[in-house]
Amino acid sequence: MKKVLLTVAALSLALGAFAQPQLREDNIEEVLKAMTLQEKATLLVGGARAAMVNGVTSGTAWQVPGAAGNTRPIERLGIPGTVLADGPAGLRIQPTRQGDSNTYYCTGFPVGTLLASSWDTEMVEEMTKAMGNEVLEYGVDVLLAPGMNIHRNPLCGRNFEYFSEDPLLSGKMAAAYVRGIQSNGVGTSIKHYAANNQETNRNENDARISQRALREIYLKNFEIAVKEADPWTVMSSYNQLNGEYTQQKLDLLTTVLRDEWGFQGIVMTDWGNKAGTVKSAKAGNDLMEPGNQNEIDRIIAGVQDGTISQEELDRNVRNMLRYIVRTPHFKGYKFSNKPDLKAHAAVARKAAAESIVLLRNEKETLPLKGDEKVALYGISALDFVAGGTGSGDVNKAYVVNMEDAMKAAGFTLDQTLADYYKAFVAYDKAQNSLIGTVNNWFSRRKLAEIAIPTAAIENEAKANDVAVVVLGRNAGEGADRKQIDDFDLLRDVSTAYHSAGKKVVVVLNIGGVIETASWKHMVDAIVLPWSPGQEGANAVADVLTGKVNPSGKLPMTFPVNFMDHPSSANFPYAYNGQQARGFSWGPRQPQKDVDYTDYAEGIWVGYRHFQTRGVEVSYPFGYGLTYSYFVYSNPVVKATADGFEASVTIKNEGTVAGKEVVQVYVHAPEGGLEKPDQELKAFAKTKLLAPGESQTLTFQVDAYSLASFNEAASAWEAAAGVYTVNFGASIQDLRRSGSFKLKKAQSWPVHNVLAPVTE
Ligand code: BGC
Repeated sequence: MKKVLLTVAALSLALGAFAQPQLREDNIEEVLKAMTLQEKATLLVGGARAAMVNGVTSGTAWQVPGAAGNTRPIERLGIPGTVLADGPAGLRIQPTRQGDSNTYYCTGFPVGTLLASSWDTEMVEEMTKAMGNEVLEYGVDVLLAPGMNIHRNPLCGRNFEYFSEDPLLSGKMAAAYVRGIQSNGVGTSIKHYAANNQETNRNENDARISQRALREIYLKNFEIAVKEADPWTVMSSYNQLNGEYTQQKLDLLTTVLRDEWGFQGIVMTDWGNKAGTVKSAKAGNDLMEPGNQNEIDRIIAGVQDGTISQEELDRNVRNMLRYIVRTPHFKGYKFSNKPDLKAHAAVARKAAAESIVLLRNEKETLPLKGDEKVALYGISALDFVAGGTGSGDVNKAYVVNMEDAMKAAGFTLDQTLADYYKAFVAYDKAQNSLIGTVNNWFSRRKLAEIAIPTAAIENEAKANDVAVVVLGRNAGEGADRKQIDDFDLLRDVSTAYHSAGKKVVVVLNIGGVIETASWKHMVDAIVLPWSPGQEGANAVADVLTGKVNPSGKLPMTFPVNFMDHPSSANFPYAYNGQQARGFSWGPRQPQKDVDYTDYAEGIWVGYRHFQTRGVEVSYPFGYGLTYSYFVYSNPVVKATADGFEASVTIKNEGTVAGKEVVQVYVHAPEGGLEKPDQELKAFAKTKLLAPGESQTLTFQVDAYSLASFNEAASAWEAAAGVYTVNFGASIQDLRRSGSFKLKKAQSWPVHNVLAPVTE
């Protein structure tokens, strides 16, 4: 008997030694203690992704083909792998799988710039709620989105993924986006933190920025998103910032992000493998993506030689474990692989419709009556740009083009002209397959505009009621845009149609700001849908018929000339690969705007520059027309215990129902720091107002949001005195105002970090 008891005791002791804690929400410390150094390092480095290689899908069951990355499982401790996939215009995964007749398409939603043009945070949240459902139902844990770098310069190749030139608009949009996605129990990764404002040499470029411009412009939007929406993850950027890679920058990733803003999630790298893994880990970059064995080895070596302490390592691992217990993979969610794509297509269409900007509408050219015979010009009417290229490209089941959309909306098209374009597209496709040109990841080929003989256009002008010209440009990751001046088609069509007494409508199917000042007067109406997703063309047609009353407004300025942007003096707009870098085999001098970029303009980005300095623009920030007419009245502004409250009444005095975006700009009292003349401090969109209907909008702004950053004191400061509060329909159209007095100057000291390197 004694012997049996002893054996049982020995057995349970042995079992105890082998029983491994299994990860739960409430035993993170226990699991952390049980982890070996090898396991800890493994958890901080992403794993190989499932992909199609030579037609065969690699990866294990929990992985999702086409997802950008993973975190590695540690089965011994019940730590599952998790899946990370792009964004931001929808989920990006592989649409088909070998030996599987199911498809895995995702909805192509409008790009970030179009969402920001809605100025409607509720709508964005509703839309991303649908997008996040696809993330969940396709077995993904984190959507690598939203992209939220500031539109510093119109030619940044990824501006379409980003929201705005203004940090408040960008931050509020990002917060709404994050809330919508995360309401599904999946995560987001706000990116690219920070100052990834150009694609040229994006892996190495050193963005040199003053502390004030960083705090007020380039970090402010991230601060808002972190504080208001608790994103699960942040993606550090590829570039350097003031002499250090952002992924290795302790002050950026820990002092500011976590200590000052209270960020609780994980930071992951953008997709690369930089030497200096240990420095990244020490700086607070928890996860290396896409992950490589050498990064695991470096971390292990770093702990062994003391370059990184056990505490620093454990801090990152703890962050990872806290992230993992939030994920659907950890919770064992049984995803369906069957999101309701039909319902989501309707959501995408609505989002586009709520956001399209009407830039020009001479003599009420729009809306059209709907029974006109329309001549549809421009190769982009068929080769419609639903979104950009690169990681932000979504594998959608279809893209509605303008021809289909116009027909569905009831227009009769000039069929001969339509067939001419179709024949060209078919020819190009055939040629392409002959010469083997492929649409690769970085550059989905955009068809070049085709010339239409003037005589043909003249005949078409006689035979049709109106011309609709679709002008398309695509943009994408890996390259900045160039200025393209191909407005010949517009000129020819305008000349012919105007001499025939007919009107010309332009649809700008673009990914970033283009030059408009030289040609806008030639046309009667301009509709700006940006790159509006797979259903966007339908939304454009609805704006043309008036079924949708446009209510979008510009989230950035359209300048007269590119060089009017102060940032253009320090932007690689003429960069041409190695040639411009002075290619040589030996060491070379660092090249301006390629190896480093001086943000010499400081805080004078976008309207802050144009409006304050009275520089003429083509279309101002916040601008957009509607088919209604809104009157602003009864402005009330009063000081509150912490800032001010303002309200204004908006009445639709037009003849059709519509929505108005109201922008609250503040002019600060003199004294203290030099400030822009006006800064956006709040905004809202009315509900759909019937003709004659009014709505009073109320805004609350706290004193901290009024503050500017004083480098000398390393503090945010709000000056005492009288602040003018303007209610604007755009930065150039301030309709009503009021004022309030901030009795006492206020100051919020922060760490004196992020300073540029002085020579
Ligand atoms: C992009 C990120 C993207 C990542 C994963 C990178 O090249 O810069 O935006 O999330 O790839 O695809």
